[in-house]
Amino acid sequence: MRAFSGIQPTGIIHIGNYFGAIKQWIDLQQKFECFFCIVNQHAITIPQNPKALKKNTIDLATLYLACGLNPEISTIFIQSEIKQHTELTWILNTITKISELERMTQFKEKAKQHRKNVNVGLFDYPVLMAADILLYKTDVVPVGEDQKQHVEITRTLARRFNKIYGQTFKIPEVLIKKESARIMGLDNPFKKMSKSAKSPLNYIALDDSPELIFEKIQKAVTDSGKEIVYNPQKKPAIANLLTIFSLITGKSIKEIEKEFQGKGYSEFKQKLAYEIIEFLSPIQAKKRDLQKNEKYVFQVLEIGKEKAKIIAKETMNRVNEKIGLI
Ligand code: AMP
Ligand code: TRP
Repeated sequence: MRAFSGIQPTGIIHIGNYFGAIKQWIDLQQKFECFFCIVNQHAITIPQNPKALKKNTIDLATLYLACGLNPEISTIFIQSEIKQHTELTWILNTITKISELERMTQFKEKAKQHRKNVNVGLFDYPVLMAADILLYKTDVVPVGEDQKQHVEITRTLARRFNKIYGQTFKIPEVLIKKESARIMGLDNPFKKMSKSAKSPLNYIALDDSPELIFEKIQKAVTDSGKEIVYNPQKKPAIANLLTIFSLITGKSIKEIEKEFQGKGYSEFKQKLAYEIIEFLSPIQAKKRDLQKNEKYVFQVLEIGKEKAKIIAKETMNRVNEKIGLI
């Protein structure tokens, strides 16, 4: 059984990405043959500085390793190094309806955010993602909830292709962890924590310093009242902080509620900041170590590229054959 997932190298990786995606991946490695991609071609659907994009790409690979992705058992590689991703995108484009892409929530949101640059790549983003997934005959796609719609369109395209040209693609399943499916913004508990948020107070980045984490948690919005209880409808901000607390410490929400019974927001936030700092500290230390050994990171990516290429080429040959492309 094979798993495939990816993250865009856009600079900030936050705890929403960690718990929505990376944490799941770490656990999956034991059970699945895993492919973890750095999706730099997705990243350029929003303008990027070329130098920063290069740096962020290597940085994300380093972070993958620092978080515990194991290159001995998993394949870690850069999307742009495997040309078949864009090749298959073109093929899938020919069976994708414009109306299907117009329905994509992420497209609608990003188009609103970048009104002056609603480019064709941004529109086609889900098709490139479908190509990523289908190239590797993927069984499961571990992601946060916001990507569910993109995995659904991937399934639609795979079925459609199979119907037109004969059995070719596996139909992948989405894998979402309920507890961490959607971490909300610290400055707005009604919107998901997001890299592209206007204010850095929205998220805790995995690279944030202890001082910054402390400040961000102190400034995180709370709800009226003063009890630390989990009630997403009435107390969405505290519910989100409780979720984060639980994910970080491994304690159940019930346990945490009990721990803070009769205590106020301020004490809760202080402890939460402390726990986050403790949690991120070994990841940050490992990343610094790996940064001193860039050669190793490049080596991992080189091996990943070779492994990915074999499968991607094979799938693409089959696809071209089915369609009649010489
Ligand atoms: P992206 O930041 O769009 O490259 O997303 C990388 C991965 O993180 C995807 O699997 C997303 O679903 C997941 N993710 C992003 N934001 C969140 C969030 N706020 N909560 C949970 N998962 C998230
Ligand atoms: N679109 C995903 C996101 O924004 C990233 C991504 C690209 C992806 N290709 C993928 C995730 C393939 C899973 C599988 O988060």
